[in-house]
Amino acid sequence: MPPGSRALLFALVTLLVVLLIVDDLTQVENAQTAVHTELTPDPSSGTRLTPDPSSGTHLNSHQSRDTGNWTFNHTLANLIRKDILRFLDPVRDLSILRGAVSPGDTVHYVLDRHSSTHISDTLYRLLPSAPPLRRLHHHSCAIVGNSGILLDSRCGPEIDRHDFVIRCNLAPVEEFSADVGSRTDLVTMNPSVVQRAFGDLQTEEWRRRFTHRLKALGDGVLWVPAFMAKGGEERVEWALQLIQEQGLEVRTAVPSLRLLHAVRGYWLTKHVPIKRPSTGLFMYTLATRFCSQLHLYGFWPFPRDPRGAPVKYHYYDRLTYQYTSSSSPHTMPLEYRTLRTLHGQGALRLHTGPCEEPPTH
Ligand SMILES: *[C@@H]1O[C@H](CO)[C@@H](O)[C@H](O)[C@H]1NC(C)=O
Ligand SMILES: *[C@@H]1O[C@H](CO)[C@@H](O)[C@H](O)[C@H]1NC(C)=O
Repeated sequence: MPPGSRALLFALVTLLVVLLIVDDLTQVENAQTAVHTELTPDPSSGTRLTPDPSSGTHLNSHQSRDTGNWTFNHTLANLIRKDILRFLDPVRDLSILRGAVSPGDTVHYVLDRHSSTHISDTLYRLLPSAPPLRRLHHHSCAIVGNSGILLDSRCGPEIDRHDFVIRCNLAPVEEFSADVGSRTDLVTMNPSVVQRAFGDLQTEEWRRRFTHRLKALGDGVLWVPAFMAKGGEERVEWALQLIQEQGLEVRTAVPSLRLLHAVRGYWLTKHVPIKRPSTGLFMYTLATRFCSQLHLYGFWPFPRDPRGAPVKYHYYDRLTYQYTSSSSPHTMPLEYRTLRTLHGQGALRLHTGPCEEPPTH
């Protein structure tokens, strides 16, 4: 592509993203005044190209209004929990149990039905024999997404104060704990993470780093969607072998084969057509079962914050934006609008600004 058209393309994409953000914030306003039980995002929202000239000035007041006068609607949260339970049982679907399979069983990939793999001996031995959640009721839970919006948020202490903390894709916490906290009760790990963040465990150094990261989880749950899509089977196997060799305390969980369809089915009935829900949306859907109050941090699929400052895609690496490209399997802006609407209704709390210390009495 000649440099001229690349710059033009970049400008266009930036404009679109800015319009999406402005639009999202306008939707919050609507959501706060009207209580809808249906989560239909405005179908025109992604394509509207006439910015509301007044909306730019709203951006800052929005954030403070969000934090100043916002309450959980427990009636709504209970309705959502019951509704989700019609599609899946998060406690059971959180992991395949050892008693339900045998080593050598053939498993078809959820997204590639024509390809299959086997339950390896290692995987079999590391499957839980009972559902991996110790407690089925937590007062407040945090789900921590990986957006760069967390940098300089100082949300770490607040995140760590929740009763149960869920993180995504084995994101590093040590060097970022002031902003992201360090407590982890459940963390997801897509097979690709073994390659992207841990050099496929091919050298001693990578194996040492991986072991170190997992040790920090103590006996938390490592949730590995091993059978979602084809391609990661050796990576999962290498990771599990290492866990076994080192006798690590971390408890492995592998989501049930029906989970994806169930989650997708639930959101479809809410008119949110998501082909492949992101890890974050999976975690929200599951956590409604065992958390009364759900707080989401680090969910911000835009390259600029509400004040216009650049935001990294992940808080910890150099990956760049793919959310709005058609090649990405996830539909982050749609998911984000959905979560925003739920936030406006009091079903969950989305934290996108910096955190404050609690008032001292
Ligand atoms: C919260 O909102 C209610 C109703 O809109 C209003 O009466 C109240 O003064 C607000 N409280 C604060 C702290 O802003
Ligand atoms: C809470 O949600 C329920 C169910 O959607 C709704 O009927 C009720 O009006 C909401 N309460 C408040 C205070 O918004």
